[in-house]
Amino acid sequence: MIRCVSCGAEYDDDEVIYTCEKCGSVLELVSDIDVSKDIFDGRKDTLWKFKECIPVDESKIVSLDEGGTPFCKCDKLGSELGVNLYVKVEGSNPTGSFKDRGMTVGMTKAMELGVSTVGCASTGNTSASLAAYAARAGLRCIVFLPSGKVALGKLAQAMFHGAEVMSINGNFDEALEAMTALALEKHLYLLNSINPYRLEGQKTIGYEILRDLGWQAPDRIILPVGNAGNISAIWKGVSEFYNAGFVKDLPMMTGIQAEGACPVTNAFRKGDRRVVPVENPETIATAIRIGAPVSDIKALNAIYDSNGYSETVTDEEILDAQKLLARTEGIGVEPASAASIAGLKKLVDQGVIDKGETITCVVTGHLLKDPNTAIDACTKPTEVDADIDTLRKILMNK
Ligand code: F0G
Repeated sequence: MIRCVSCGAEYDDDEVIYTCEKCGSVLELVSDIDVSKDIFDGRKDTLWKFKECIPVDESKIVSLDEGGTPFCKCDKLGSELGVNLYVKVEGSNPTGSFKDRGMTVGMTKAMELGVSTVGCASTGNTSASLAAYAARAGLRCIVFLPSGKVALGKLAQAMFHGAEVMSINGNFDEALEAMTALALEKHLYLLNSINPYRLEGQKTIGYEILRDLGWQAPDRIILPVGNAGNISAIWKGVSEFYNAGFVKDLPMMTGIQAEGACPVTNAFRKGDRRVVPVENPETIATAIRIGAPVSDIKALNAIYDSNGYSETVTDEEILDAQKLLARTEGIGVEPASAASIAGLKKLVDQGVIDKGETITCVVTGHLLKDPNTAIDACTKPTEVDADIDTLRKILMNK
């Protein structure tokens, strides 16, 4: 069953519907977990090991073996900050971001519904993922990207997998509005995170974090927030496993935004449950350059219901954190993902996070998604001839 998160109106699973027909709010799938967690043991470690908890037709699955991502204990960075730190590395998914979890489920639903065309607006990663899964499913794929504001790796992926890519003169919020209007006219099946099936895939990040910690909840999950789907999905996942009795506690959901694109943090600071859109959002973390997040209600509910928090970080703090994670722990992430690490650092400094807390930072996309920003942050390699004497001299001088 699909249910409206605001007025509780109910819809059939097979209705192609993105927002509530009665009140216009966002929708979610209602699923009861009536299995034992032991059934997951011994299965291949992909998202579909949790198939009993994902309400789609198993015979229609479109998968690239997404999920089962690394859960790295980061002792060096953790001890520097005085916390017990784990990093969930979502850049290890097939197309290099967590979007693959949402897309495998969304595309499976698309096959169940028998649609022929899928579409999304994207800051980059959603389009890269959709293009790959549409290719695998054999469906036509249309994507709208904000012109000039999509990192190179993501653009290459969307084009190379054969999507019909349109560069929209406008920002992500405007591109999404146009794409949604076309979906409502039934030209295509919308696979942005307003589609509740997307979040049914992404909630497995929450499942896996609990499982990775030996069926315990961390004190806190920290992640970047853009369109606000992922924080909502992870909260849904951990809540489902908590309600099923698989763990005894729930984590505090902590959403980090870029200072130039922070409608959710603004709402949190005022204690509001809806955002006031930010006009002309701007940040180097183009993945989260979003002013009017569609899942704001769900995200703010997640933060308040979990006794969580929301904070902003500057572009400079994001780039510093990106480098810190890469150089102290060997984990390469794109700028938006580094917002979680930057946020962790800031909240430790502010005393919001207590020393000794067990923290999971979700890093959402791979370093190579945005190669230009990575290269710009480094000094150019020295050009030298392959002459041993010269090379030896250089090495000894360092
Ligand atoms: N991190 C990365 C790397 C992302 O690509 C996104 C969103 C987020 C974090 C934020 O997640 O939107 O669920 O709050 N990217 C979308 C896209 C908007 O089009 O690829 P969110």
